[in-house]
Amino acid sequence: MQLPAHGLPTEELLDQLRANRHDDADWRSGRLFSLVYHPDSPELEDVLAAVSREYLAENALNPFRFPSLARLEQETADMVADLLHGTAGPGGLTSGGTESILVAVYVARAVARERGIARAKIVTGITVHPAFAKACHLLDVEQVRVGIDPVTKRLLVEELRAAVDDRTILLVASAPNYPYGVIDPVTEVAAIAEEHGILCHVDACLGGLLLPFWERIGEPVPPWDFRVSGVTSISADIHKYGYSFKGASVLIHRERALYEKQWWFDDGAWGGGLYGSPTPAGTRPAPPIAGAWAALTSLGEDGYVRLAEKVRDTRNALLQGISAIEGLRVTVDPDLSVFEVGSDDVDMDAVADALQEKGWYPDRQPGGLHLMLSPYHARITDELLAVLTEAVAQVRGGRTSDARPATYGATLETS
Ligand SMILES: Cc1ncc(COP(=O)(O)O)c(C=O)c1O
Repeated sequence: MQLPAHGLPTEELLDQLRANRHDDADWRSGRLFSLVYHPDSPELEDVLAAVSREYLAENALNPFRFPSLARLEQETADMVADLLHGTAGPGGLTSGGTESILVAVYVARAVARERGIARAKIVTGITVHPAFAKACHLLDVEQVRVGIDPVTKRLLVEELRAAVDDRTILLVASAPNYPYGVIDPVTEVAAIAEEHGILCHVDACLGGLLLPFWERIGEPVPPWDFRVSGVTSISADIHKYGYSFKGASVLIHRERALYEKQWWFDDGAWGGGLYGSPTPAGTRPAPPIAGAWAALTSLGEDGYVRLAEKVRDTRNALLQGISAIEGLRVTVDPDLSVFEVGSDDVDMDAVADALQEKGWYPDRQPGGLHLMLSPYHARITDELLAVLTEAVAQVRGGRTSDARPATYGATLETS
């Protein structure tokens, strides 16, 4: 592939671009269950497109040149901090959950170094997102993973307590975890952190923008945010249940002093003048910042409440419908809108294959299928239950798994 000798006219270029998408998952039809959070709102989509056009070229690296972006970022972080019962000020945006987690671990390592700990250690449940393992790998921090209760799928507090030692600087709880959609016992985890004078991060990348509204619509929500004493930071992704486009998460600290540890400064000895930034990225695209602000502002509290109700009703309908399909079960009643569907006697890989053949893309994990619901899924609930029923019948009738390579490694080898 080479750069075209002459630039293509826009129409031709767009034709090429669109033709190239022929084998993408069709998320607009609601047949995809993660990767895209579909609010079913053409109005919001128009707002987000308009806002990103406004900020196509700006760069959030230098807040003195684009103070409007610095204000949008602060306002966005503060709006989320308010939802999480934190304080305005000690938080900012990152490019996504993985970056928020990386920065949270970086801050913890900085605290550890101040305390003379040469190789810091963090303790998490086995169900935390792989972003923690990645952060630990990049930052040379040790991750100790403790087990989960086999029934509730929440991390085992006593195992976590036993894992804490002199090198431990950070404890982590998920709200909720990705595989099962359940919230770890945040109060207990944070209390252990407080006892030891160490940090406690709540990974609410998934739930951070849904849980506040889940509570407002009367759903049971165990304590998980800054109202829990001992929680020192929370990550929450606006590009998930905040419904902005990709590239927007917040990391909020309880205290300003912790936020300040995010910052990297160079005094100018490199020859290029003063340089400072609060996240790994240097140049930071403006559209995700403006988009995150716009999603929050455009939807407002009543908008998020409406969407939360839709997600809740869809979840309830699916939980009920799935448990009525013989052979299928939801592994554990989820706290939110994310759950695993497993079986004792039906090959769930074969079920997933049958669904995929029909253009449905539930995620797969060792225990079965993984469903992450967006408001749009309200439209396809019945259809999904029907194709699931049919897929299970096919598998019971002898359909086996296509045994497609399921790993990135295998995909790379065959591509
Ligand atoms: C619980 C949890 N934490 C962190 C992440 C990472 O977020 P991102 O993919 O935006 O980096 C995810 C992604 O699904 C998640 O579910």
